[in-house]
Amino acid sequence: MNEKKLNQISIELSSPPKGILAADESTNTIKKRFDLINVESNFENRRKYRELLFKTKNLNGFISGIILYDETIKQSTSEGIPFPVYLEKKKIAPGIKVDAGAIPITNESSEKITEGLDGLSKRLQEYKALGAVFTKWRAIIDIHTKNNLPSEHCIESNAFVLGRYARIVQENDMVPIVEPEVIMDGKHSIEDCYEVTAKTLKKVFNQLDFHKVFLGGILLKPNMVISGKDSDTQASIKDVAKMTVDCLKENVPNEVPGIVFLSGGQSNELATQHLNEMNKNYNELPWNLSFSYGRALQKPALSSWMGQEKNIIDSQNALFVRSKHNSNATIGKYSSEDENLSP
Ligand code: G3H
Repeated sequence: MNEKKLNQISIELSSPPKGILAADESTNTIKKRFDLINVESNFENRRKYRELLFKTKNLNGFISGIILYDETIKQSTSEGIPFPVYLEKKKIAPGIKVDAGAIPITNESSEKITEGLDGLSKRLQEYKALGAVFTKWRAIIDIHTKNNLPSEHCIESNAFVLGRYARIVQENDMVPIVEPEVIMDGKHSIEDCYEVTAKTLKKVFNQLDFHKVFLGGILLKPNMVISGKDSDTQASIKDVAKMTVDCLKENVPNEVPGIVFLSGGQSNELATQHLNEMNKNYNELPWNLSFSYGRALQKPALSSWMGQEKNIIDSQNALFVRSKHNSNATIGKYSSEDENLSP
């Protein structure tokens, strides 16, 4: 394992003023997104949409890396340049989602375990040859306070698999993004989210240690500590920032170079405001605090596009604007008034 190289990639990907664009929706997920804009989800439409995103002018001022999906990393621009090669030329690092999705953890359970360890090393070699320098694996942890969930079984099993994944990826000299996502759906309070996130992070770092993962060569992609989406009480931006930073300080070792949040279903503006608040008020943190957003970067681009050639520029402008706002949030310089400025 080339620790120096892994550390350098982790730092480059998470250093302000840049963050990561997650464009790694599986075929099922992108279909759901396309259904919302009445666009057929076929191979060519998915290629066109990803091409539009990647060709956004000056995106590399805000975006350090893009996470691709298995199909996307093998697709090309309309000029025939493979996407990972095109991104490298733009000085954007190509990454790849390597988990195979989540299945029920037992026959009776609503909880999930993420699959994809079998044959992972072989797949990594293929992705590396295509140009990927980093990877992502997402574990899902649901909160159901009434049913006493998440269970120890779910947290521990997913933490183990994240540890094993990270180790295999580093042995292939690629950076693993470790993503334990505590889902924001539900009526739970921000305190419940804190408790479950803290417990999950503890178990994840125990397992990273158990698998002898080099912490200087990973990125952590956590949820923010936030009220459940359907909770009657929604915590303020200040409280989300404070409780998220407290939870991370308590559970994330200093050697980790960067923490790149997922957006998880937050509105575009809130995802930016929360990140901004953390970077504005807590500047003595040991890790970079940045973003690896999917929906919170892509939503306006997708709805401007609507599958129409004539909307490509508007759609790219929409991605540019959200990327710029989140870039400003990595240095605590975003203001919600910026939302009214034109690109
Ligand atoms: O795994 C989840 C994605 O990489 C991030 O997506 O920002 O829409 O939660 P999100």
